[in-house]
Amino acid sequence: MCGIVGYCGRLNAQDVVINGLEKLEYRGYDSAGISILENSSLRTKKKAGRLINLENALKDDPFKGNIGIGHTRWATHGVPNETNAHPHLNTNGTISVVHNGIIENYLDLKEFLISEGYTFKSETDTEVVAQLIDYYYEDDLFTAVTKAISKLKGAYALGIVSENEPDKLIAVRHASPLVLGVSDELGTFIASDIPSLLEYTRDVIYLDNGEIVVADKDSYTIYNENLEEVEKEISKITWSLEAATKDGFEHFMIKEIFEQPRAIEEAILNKMKDDEINLSTGTFTKEELNEINQIYIVACGTAYHAGQVGKFAFEQFAHIPVTTDIASEFRYNSPFIDDKTLLILVSQSGETADTLAALREGKKHGAKTISITNVVGSSIARETDKVLYCYAGPEISVASTKAYTTQLIALYFLALDFAKKLNKISDEEIKNIINEIKELPNKINSMLKDLDIYKNIAEEIKDSQSIFYLGRGLDFISAKEGALKLKETSYIHTESFPAGELKHGSIALIEDGTKVFTIATQSKLVEKTASNSQELTSRGAHVYSIGRVGDTLLEKSADKVIYVPNSLDVLMPVLTVVPEQLIAYFTSVAKGNDVDKPRNLAKSVTVE
Ligand code: AGP
Ligand code: GLU
Repeated sequence: MCGIVGYCGRLNAQDVVINGLEKLEYRGYDSAGISILENSSLRTKKKAGRLINLENALKDDPFKGNIGIGHTRWATHGVPNETNAHPHLNTNGTISVVHNGIIENYLDLKEFLISEGYTFKSETDTEVVAQLIDYYYEDDLFTAVTKAISKLKGAYALGIVSENEPDKLIAVRHASPLVLGVSDELGTFIASDIPSLLEYTRDVIYLDNGEIVVADKDSYTIYNENLEEVEKEISKITWSLEAATKDGFEHFMIKEIFEQPRAIEEAILNKMKDDEINLSTGTFTKEELNEINQIYIVACGTAYHAGQVGKFAFEQFAHIPVTTDIASEFRYNSPFIDDKTLLILVSQSGETADTLAALREGKKHGAKTISITNVVGSSIARETDKVLYCYAGPEISVASTKAYTTQLIALYFLALDFAKKLNKISDEEIKNIINEIKELPNKINSMLKDLDIYKNIAEEIKDSQSIFYLGRGLDFISAKEGALKLKETSYIHTESFPAGELKHGSIALIEDGTKVFTIATQSKLVEKTASNSQELTSRGAHVYSIGRVGDTLLEKSADKVIYVPNSLDVLMPVLTVVPEQLIAYFTSVAKGNDVDKPRNLAKSVTVE
């Protein structure tokens, strides 16, 4: 994700662009930049870090002009620094481009352009777009843009200006979001999201994939992918700015729960090429893997739960023994680490102090290291030998949701990649597993259609003193994640333990009306967990069971069953966590808590 803003009209373009970017910082904030056409000359300024750094840099040297573009970045290709910040220009600095998304074939295009004599300053995929437009530019910017985008693969929302045609703003939408703001009086606006527009206009046009906008100060024209002019309906935005920042959702947590299908699609997209697993630099070679004789997966909180699911995947697919450990314990457990150990660190922020300390401990003992993180250029990403990104986009809510499910996707792909390189799994099996992974976004979408079941459960449990989550095998990992989500957002004491441990002490806690969630999605373990549910209900507990659609056994053993779509056992945690996230969210809302910023918690725990 990132934030794009563009403007062409009667107002000061710098003001419009900067104001617009300020409303989009939740979409990305590792660097920012702006290009303005001032007296037909292109002026550009870029700064690493938050948007304020760019604003301060412009104070002494403001740009004057009525046409411009700007960008606040969430890096995917190239660490967050000034060189990699957008906008990106062609070599002679006459064409400027801002981009949201990922150009999948940028390396091939870059190679071609280099063979044509082009040079590049940045590590980004976006700079390739600017140079490609230059390559095709003869005397018409629109033609050059249409030729260039016909060569692009991947997701791209683009804003383009050029001093060759200083009265024009061009925008393109393909897979990444882009909306048009229109005002007869003020001009034409483009933005990644509506909040940037609301200060100037509430008349918006939602662009569809493949559409191109060409605007000047007085008018705009929209073309479809066949380059035919199209008339589009103008919608009136009635949201407040606050609501619009959350895309109409009440909180970032629910917004990010709903973003999971898209985030998982993005995560899959960036781990495959031509229908084969392609982790690029985010993995090890077969020779390197042959040197590994054990894997440790180390993380904290939700990321640790993801790592525990990853353990099942590596052992099932690649037949490699895996030890998981909580980062804050790892360094004191005198782990058996040597140069034949692979240490996998999972961290959404890439800044968690305990996880960073575990990484440094592992490297001290010669371990090979790889991180799975959501933040390009984060400390953990920079210090591991390899890094595999989640591509979830910024996760604002303290409770981790889309980062967790995209961490699982990354771990599945890494395990499959290892399994393939070590010849532990057939191509047929890999294809089947990947096809099932590709089905997950739709299956999650199906669970997001009716939220009443979760709202009703929240009403039923919100005044509980304590709540329990139980499960066996992978369901126990899901139980731990469900308990963490609920406790950290609702402040209700929520404990998880293996369902088989119930009779070894914990059942003493069960009394009339105790709320218990039993997770029963693992095909070989459902019966056992169902009988745990019966043990609980027979002692007065109120049992909610999360199980697979069609598993009627659970109807007999639980008071209420929450059904999730079917998938492979090893993939079920991606689906099981969605009801858990929604129950935690609605319980927190029902209790009037600060959902996105729960008490005592920080989004990234950068102290040990
Ligand atoms: C998860 O909802 C919590 N916010 C917390 O457990 C979090 O997962 C943990 O602090 C690890 O953070 P990281 O992924 O950024 O390293
Ligand atoms: N892929 C581009 C980059 O890494 C754009 C990322 C974004 O959407 O911010 O610069």
